[in-house]
Amino acid sequence: MTTNYAVIGLQWGDEGKGKIVDLLSKDLKVAVRYQGGHNAGHTILFSGRKLVLHLIPSGVLHPDVTGVIDRGVVVDPEAFLREKEELEKGGLSLKGRLFLSKDAHMILPYHSLADGLGETLRGSLPIGTTRRGIGPCYEDKLARRGVKLSTLLDPKALREALEAAVSMRNPLHKGLNAPAIDIDKEIARLEGLAEGIRPFIVDTFELLDNFQRQGRSLLFEGAQGTLLDIDFGTYPFVSSSHPSIGGIFTGSYCDYHIPLKVIGLVKAYTTRVGEGPFPTEEMGETGKTLQERGHEYGATTGRPRRCGWLDLVALKYAVKLNGVSSIALTKVDVLDSFASIPVCTSYLYKGERLSTFPTEPWILEKLRPEYTELRGWQQPSSSLRNGDPLPEALKEYIAFLEEKLEVPVSLLSVGPDREETLNLRPLVG
Ligand code: IMP
Repeated sequence: MTTNYAVIGLQWGDEGKGKIVDLLSKDLKVAVRYQGGHNAGHTILFSGRKLVLHLIPSGVLHPDVTGVIDRGVVVDPEAFLREKEELEKGGLSLKGRLFLSKDAHMILPYHSLADGLGETLRGSLPIGTTRRGIGPCYEDKLARRGVKLSTLLDPKALREALEAAVSMRNPLHKGLNAPAIDIDKEIARLEGLAEGIRPFIVDTFELLDNFQRQGRSLLFEGAQGTLLDIDFGTYPFVSSSHPSIGGIFTGSYCDYHIPLKVIGLVKAYTTRVGEGPFPTEEMGETGKTLQERGHEYGATTGRPRRCGWLDLVALKYAVKLNGVSSIALTKVDVLDSFASIPVCTSYLYKGERLSTFPTEPWILEKLRPEYTELRGWQQPSSSLRNGDPLPEALKEYIAFLEEKLEVPVSLLSVGPDREETLNLRPLVG
């Protein structure tokens, strides 16, 4: 029987999903985005140059892969066209193999404006969002004043949807001294973009239903990470979507009778962009070293990422929640020169050891992580190639993670190139 696959980040995003999806696309020919928007940044080396995809599934870099942006994603039409054009300039043809769900909601300029204003109004308690309008667009969707891509196919529906949105947004704008939204201008702007977008809009339910009935495996490409999930993450310091497994079932059509294997993406240390609690964060020199060696700067906003050690309490929670079948461990080479590598194995809070990951920022900020020191391997892992024996200390590091997380580590990424990948077990099949 066919199996569907998902690639889900188990930390606060930026686990290196782009590269792994790219590798899996050799075997899996349908890549589906189910949540988030162009707040994501998946970096891939493509024809010798570095490419960052924010919205379009990274799988489409393979000319025989079909890409689907499904209904759980919020789509900025300009961002979509920009990315599509960049890919086409690079020689990729996307017609007939890239699809947008008619039911996905559009991010409109007033969402990005509201994102920025919202951050400013929070004063000393910002979320540190990407200011791309993601949160306000999901807000409008849940408040039932969103504007779906399907409205680009029906002028009357577009005007009505915008009127509903603006009836709420304009009074807000007035109170905040922001310019009123002019519906006619917005319709004219969208009309200008629609021609390039309409050919891609389809009923993705029917499309994915057909694929699954034909026995084609789907690859669900998660964006962000489990700890940024609106319900399971460190609220309110989260994104506004469901990067974890539930998002696949609400944001797309995954036939749950078909086995689903979840590949959990774990960076060999931890990073976080934006505000919010981070128990294993290293504020001093060690954090800086990780940041520099790992080139930890946001692919979307360029912000420096906060860095710290691996957190097995948080990872255990994410492994369980997502039903992870195997782990792909990335950026292993960043730890190459450390003589000793601390790994957080438990949390102490008010003198008691916690039994699970608390999502409350006020607890996460106060608890004390307890660490186990593991031996560093102190040799360049990026020069290792598939089949090479691993340094003993690296084997111990992997065995420790497998024992604590009760999931096999199937792949190591030791550099950005495809060849810098060590397969310990097959990920697919
Ligand atoms: P938003 O998704 O722009 O609303 O931002 C909410 C939080 O999620 C902020 O802390 C962002 O830095 C973080 N975030 C959003 N997208 C990503 C991502 O792709 N990687 C890492 N962090 C992200």
